Amino acid sequence: MVELKRHGYPRSNGYDAEWVLAGDMGPHPLWLLEDLARDLELRPGMRVLDLGSGKGTTSVFLAREYGVHVWAADLWVDPTEAAAHIAAQGVDGVVTVKAEAHTLPFAHGFFDAIVCIDAYEYFGTADGYLAYITQFLKPGGQLGVATPALRKEIRELGHIPGHIKTLVGWEALAWHTADWWRFQWEITELVEVTAARLQESGWADWLAWSHAVSEYRGTRKGALDMLEADQGEFLTFAILAARKP
Ligand SMILES: C[S@@+](CC[C@H](N)C(=O)[O-])C[C@H]1O[C@@H](n2cnc3c(N)ncnc32)[C@H](O)[C@@H]1O
Repeated sequence: MVELKRHGYPRSNGYDAEWVLAGDMGPHPLWLLEDLARDLELRPGMRVLDLGSGKGTTSVFLAREYGVHVWAADLWVDPTEAAAHIAAQGVDGVVTVKAEAHTLPFAHGFFDAIVCIDAYEYFGTADGYLAYITQFLKPGGQLGVATPALRKEIRELGHIPGHIKTLVGWEALAWHTADWWRFQWEITELVEVTAARLQESGWADWLAWSHAVSEYRGTRKGALDMLEADQGEFLTFAILAARKP
């Protein structure tokens, strides 16, 4: 049985490790969400969109820990598969939807919060995306994002570090610093940025999770080579939170 308890994540530590590991689609979704939620105000009864929810591990956490109503929207994972993963934890009421992040099937002004764990990098770096996604928030609504980040902009480095390029290729261009995100969002005046920080423990958490997934599956996770070569020099996560005025 794989051990998955981690200092600093008391809420996540309460979840069944095998179930969390079975939902793996990248780095640890619950550690990222638990950290992000420190910069959000989530209250019972709120409507929350879990955007790019994958198998729905984070949707269970949102519903159970904060008593919010969750819409779990994802492109690659079938809603029936996500619903089964969610139901395995006895959580009822999460709505799973197949949705593309640019054509969301929701009413404008519907959500109190939109949360996006390890998915925003696939669609959120385009200049126009913030204006699109914030349409779905109520006034005062919150946007919370946890996304892979680099400690230095690739533009500044002038190249993609070799160990990152080997695994991720050009897609690493979407991995930015917290300062990049802060500027990108603040300049629009569409939101007030309430947090834009790099995780101190991001690289170590990602490494620990990748070891746990490798042990659980009995095969070495691809990210391990990249993380071991990095040693925390570039790789971590950005935690971003903003409020619609
Ligand atoms: C690395 S997985 C993370 C899943 C989940 N949030 C988690 O942390 O376990 C990225 C997710 O982003 C979703 N995604 C990527 N591009 C998308 C798009 N254009 N619209 C909606 N979802 C998208 C994928 O379907 C995938 O489930």
